Amino acid sequence: MVGLDCSDDAGVYRLTDEIALIQTLDFFTPIVDDPYDFGQIAAANALSDVYAMGGKPLTAMNIVCFPINDMDKSVLRSIIEGGLDIIRQAGAVLVGGHSVEDPELKYGLSVTGVVRPDQLLTNAGAKPGDCLILTKPLGTGIVATALKAGELGEEPTRRVTALMATLNKDAAETMVDFAVNACTDITGFGLLGHCLEMARASQVGIKLYAEKVPVIPEAKLFASIGLVPAGSYTNQKYFLKHLEIAGTVDPLLIDIFSDPQSSGGLLISLPGSMAASLVEKLKEKGIPAANIIGEVVEKKPGTIEVG
Ligand code: CO
Ligand code: CO
Ligand code: CO
Repeated sequence: MVGLDCSDDAGVYRLTDEIALIQTLDFFTPIVDDPYDFGQIAAANALSDVYAMGGKPLTAMNIVCFPINDMDKSVLRSIIEGGLDIIRQAGAVLVGGHSVEDPELKYGLSVTGVVRPDQLLTNAGAKPGDCLILTKPLGTGIVATALKAGELGEEPTRRVTALMATLNKDAAETMVDFAVNACTDITGFGLLGHCLEMARASQVGIKLYAEKVPVIPEAKLFASIGLVPAGSYTNQKYFLKHLEIAGTVDPLLIDIFSDPQSSGGLLISLPGSMAASLVEKLKEKGIPAANIIGEVVEKKPGTIEVG
């Protein structure tokens, strides 16, 4: 049902009329210092792609690259424990994994989930008249860069770590009660990159309301002093020609909208008439950042207007 040609969040294979299989894999190098926290974040990030397809994760397998000669085994144990706690929160089961020796530590999961074929959400279903909702604030890449540079205080470190370790489970379970047309999650290509994928796959234009996009307050501060990861500029180079940016938009926001996210929020496209009540339900579920950040339009398919 969904394959390589779609640049969607996961592969989907129909087993029967009632069940389709969702398969996805994600892993990366540490973005925080604490191994347990890193395990949690990497697991939440990997599981997110199942939620982004409207599915429910069932099983997970660890993928580990570990410098066994240079690093204490207890580090690996903590990473796996962090991951396992999030797998349990997701209601899934760890069933195996594979590890190799590697000078650079990496961890993640391969996740298998299920969805009813008629409830599958791809990034190709957005329709003119839809509103776009984002469920987590942006800026984790910028903040992680500041953390690496030793510039991030204790309280913001804890807050942003908790944000990245939060599963998109509640958001996904809330949106199934609404007639959602399309969904994806915001990860490596940043908000603009994933919006562009949705605009292309759905053959629509997207209009973003720059001031409505939730942003981690510290990300604004660090972006303003140039602490922006190289990935943000790589992303911009790729999609700048598909963007139309109003003169009133603060250029710093474009850096933040291009910032690669780890375990970012869901981007949900649903008919405009239902958007406000979904935002309200998401907030009731403890997702305070949820906000309407834009709309889907007919004109200029495959492009984004930021205003
Ligand atoms: Co994804
Ligand atoms: Co992914
Ligand atoms: Co093996």
